[in-house]
Amino acid sequence: MAYFISSIFFKFTGTRKEAEVSKLFETTKINEMQLFNRFVRSATWEGMAAEDGACTPRLIELIAGLAEGGVGLIITSHAYIRPDGQAGPRQLGIYRDDLIDGLREMTRRVHKHGSKIALQITHAGFFANFKLTGQRPKAPSQVDGFARSPREELTPAEIQNIVEAFSQAARRAKEANFDGVQIHAAHGYLLSQFLSPAFNKRTDRYGGTVENRARFLLEVLQVLRATLGQDFPILVKINSQDFLGGGLTAEDSLQVDAMLQEKGIDAIELSGGTIVSGDLSPSRRGITSEQKEAYFKKAAKVFKERLHVPLILVGGIRSFRVAERLVDEKYADYISMSRPFIREPALVGRWASGDLRRATCLSDNQCFTPARSGEGIYCVVEKKGKEQG
Ligand SMILES: Cc1cc2nc3c(=O)[nH]c(=O)nc-3n(C[C@H](O)[C@H](O)[C@H](O)COP(=O)(O)O)c2cc1C
Repeated sequence: MAYFISSIFFKFTGTRKEAEVSKLFETTKINEMQLFNRFVRSATWEGMAAEDGACTPRLIELIAGLAEGGVGLIITSHAYIRPDGQAGPRQLGIYRDDLIDGLREMTRRVHKHGSKIALQITHAGFFANFKLTGQRPKAPSQVDGFARSPREELTPAEIQNIVEAFSQAARRAKEANFDGVQIHAAHGYLLSQFLSPAFNKRTDRYGGTVENRARFLLEVLQVLRATLGQDFPILVKINSQDFLGGGLTAEDSLQVDAMLQEKGIDAIELSGGTIVSGDLSPSRRGITSEQKEAYFKKAAKVFKERLHVPLILVGGIRSFRVAERLVDEKYADYISMSRPFIREPALVGRWASGDLRRATCLSDNQCFTPARSGEGIYCVVEKKGKEQG
């Protein structure tokens, strides 16, 4: 109760001084990447790339706006590493060398503001979009219930080809001057599908025990380290659990985290849920109070008690004070947000200036609609408000 009263009391009384002394604005390092605050823009598919996945001037403007708005580390949308791994329309691609130049301009614009930027690399696997790729989606196993059309089960040799495609994608990211890469192993896409017994029914060395299910991800990490060198930051985004019947459990997730730590991952972003987890999807609705914020914080606490690799926490964080407590009370080392930055790209700057009111994002997920339609993301509520004057 005391916490609740004090949070109301402080609602409008922030000062620049208060923000300045906050741990949230400390300078830290992830591997050799120096960050001027602890705020991260979580990977967000904008639906603004060209048809072939090339970076566009409009996408660069959006990303540069986040850097100008004070985000310490920007993680791009998930970029597909092979044409058969595309999930959505106008998704960013990193599967050809001629895509590097456009991305280099993106990183240049971000660096002008002192922010850092990591490329999220992905393959959609089971959820690759047949209409966009023209190919039958490739998956760990044939499983019923998540899609009508059959999937193609990956052979060990094909898995190795995808590991190599991750490596090539990471090499391109480094050539485009990204400060790091993030392996997307969350939300039910390919690497997450291998981790998850709900999708992975294999009986070979890539299925069964948690060590076997993690093998593909660990092979990707190993090849990326060899390609990128010891100093280059490699991050991963992973589910704390899938919230699916028979999916990845909290305990399995912690075991995978421990394996990643042992194999030299530089930071882990903890998320949860998949695109077929219903109300418990990664982007939950109705985050209307501080109590509902940071919906993976319990998992984060256990993670921090067991592991020492830096933890980036995402999922429903909306208030400066919640963010601050998460860091002060050792739930997380970094605060990651997606939807709040769609409405307020300068949210971090606002907080830094002493205006500590919570993010205005309503967590209603209307922002997905313009991404899907090909318009490109924006906050629908904000736009309607402006149109109505
Ligand atoms: C429009 C939209 C696109 C997203 N695209 C990605 C993505 O490309 N990669 C990813 O890992 N997560 C993606 N997410 C999930 C977010 O990164 C984040 O994990 C989730 O929205 C919870 O954070 P939030 O409450 O701050 O929005 C997306 C979310 C939204 C709303």
